[in-house]
Amino acid sequence: MNSNKTHWEKIYETKAEADFSWFQPYPQTSVDFINLFKLPQTASIIDIGGGDSHLVDALLELGYLDITVLDISAKSIERTKARLGEKVSAITWIEKDIIDFEPDRKYDFWHDRAAFHFLTTEIQIIKYLAIVKQGIKPGGHLVLGTFSDKGPTKCSGLEIRQYTEASMSVLFAKDFRRIKCMEETHTTPFNTRQNFVFCSFQRTTIPIL
Ligand SMILES: C[S@@+](CC[C@H](N)C(=O)[O-])C[C@H]1O[C@@H](n2cnc3c(N)ncnc32)[C@H](O)[C@@H]1O
Repeated sequence: MNSNKTHWEKIYETKAEADFSWFQPYPQTSVDFINLFKLPQTASIIDIGGGDSHLVDALLELGYLDITVLDISAKSIERTKARLGEKVSAITWIEKDIIDFEPDRKYDFWHDRAAFHFLTTEIQIIKYLAIVKQGIKPGGHLVLGTFSDKGPTKCSGLEIRQYTEASMSVLFAKDFRRIKCMEETHTTPFNTRQNFVFCSFQRTTIPIL
């Protein structure tokens, strides 16, 4: 098993959600972006590194019909399925390392909170950019949340790459139009603070020169 997957399977086998620094009972910032884009309930949505995030619960409550959750950890998916009970049948689950993901469809909305920042090498980042470009419809939306330059340098004991509004915008500028960036201070279940940066983009239909 790849060591990254081993790490995450162990985390989800041994800890409860309230032990996770990234835990939030309601993903308000993510939902605010969805409202900003006025996504119809039929929109296809994918949450990358969804883990046992409550975003999926919020999306179901909002009436979304086409939801996919991708995570490297089978255990995290099992946990989310157990929490959702009979509602799970409405969701597509993909157990995969994002770097190996070959989307067989294009999504209207791609969401990633605190998964992209674990990609620390240029090769991984370039691969992610190619995958996200392939996986979003022209005109579709992307929301990325990572630790900012004022946030922690590690997450779950692993090195991460910090971003600023500017560095994230530059990275996606070739194929995406930046819409809105913001910083957010997340309060962890242990009452510590983590500074995030969120940026949203729209997939362009023609290359930006
Ligand atoms: C810090 S947690 C964030 C979970 C969730 N997005 C949230 O905001 O609550 C990171 C998640 O990304 C997943 N993950 C880490 N590296 C990944 C990778 N290379 N491919 C897919 N998922 C990954 C982990 O299993 C974990 O569920």
